Amino acid sequence: DGTYETLLVERRGRVGLITLNRPKVLNALNAALAAELTAVLAAFDRDAALGCTVITGSEKAFAAGADITEMAGKTYPQARIEDFIAVWDGFARLRKPVIAAVGGFALGGGCELAMMCDLIIAADGARFGQPEIRLGIVPGIGGTQRLVRAIGKAKAMEMVLTGRMMDAAEAERAGLVARVVPAADLLAEAMRTAEAIAAMPLPAVLAAKDCVDRAYELTLAEGIRYERQAFYALFASADQKEGMAAFLEKRPPAFRHG
Ligand code: CAA
Repeated sequence: DGTYETLLVERRGRVGLITLNRPKVLNALNAALAAELTAVLAAFDRDAALGCTVITGSEKAFAAGADITEMAGKTYPQARIEDFIAVWDGFARLRKPVIAAVGGFALGGGCELAMMCDLIIAADGARFGQPEIRLGIVPGIGGTQRLVRAIGKAKAMEMVLTGRMMDAAEAERAGLVARVVPAADLLAEAMRTAEAIAAMPLPAVLAAKDCVDRAYELTLAEGIRYERQAFYALFASADQKEGMAAFLEKRPPAFRHG
């Protein structure tokens, strides 16, 4: 997969593993990292041999936010014209699931990156926050929108206005994370979940992610119509025939991911 300035990238079976690798700055998200990460994710998404991706950081930090050194001197016209956040838009076009395995700090853009993933598994030492207000800005990679949808207005408003952090237990109670695990087990647990997803029939995985994401965007009636079309369409997949035949014949299915 080549070498990267800001990432470690590997494949383990049908799972792609991306480790953010700017340890000296707690994986602060600079332009190089954003470009490399979104490019690798897009390549993994197109790769028929992969079914799921895990993004992780270090035990101390998933990512401590956008790179403040890089941002500090920007002027308004520069920010506006460069549109340096737009590189992240590619995330919304990914069709295969991405899991964030969060150890340590997920702050600012780091929390937003975790929320752009399809689900978050957190180490017991993880801490989530949107501290941008302390820097004279607001979250810029979707934090004000995704946090409200993830944990509701009351907690989201408090976090965005005060910059306070949530620990892993509170994040799980609030519904921000799917599961909290001991720090030593974080990567193994995230990989296990990713392997389970990657072993599922790919047409159904793509449809499942797509339908759940539509719940953010559509009315209930439209969402249910959308789901029904996706449901019927899966009867055109070989994996539906195989999955149901295997069940009826009481044997394990042999999915072809098609
Ligand atoms: N950008 C650039 N450098 C960062 C950084 C960031 N977001 N976060 C940490 N670093 C650097 C520190 O400057 C420090 O560098 P030096 O060793 O050269 O001094 C190094 O990483 C280690 O950090 P600390 O010494 O601060 O470590 P700590 O354990 O004392 O504190 C921390 C950890 C609480 C996470 C603290 O580093 C911190 O508050 N970081 C900034 C968090 C933040 O404000 N994030 C939001 C960024 S804005 C944003 O993300 C906008 C957006 O939505 C797009």
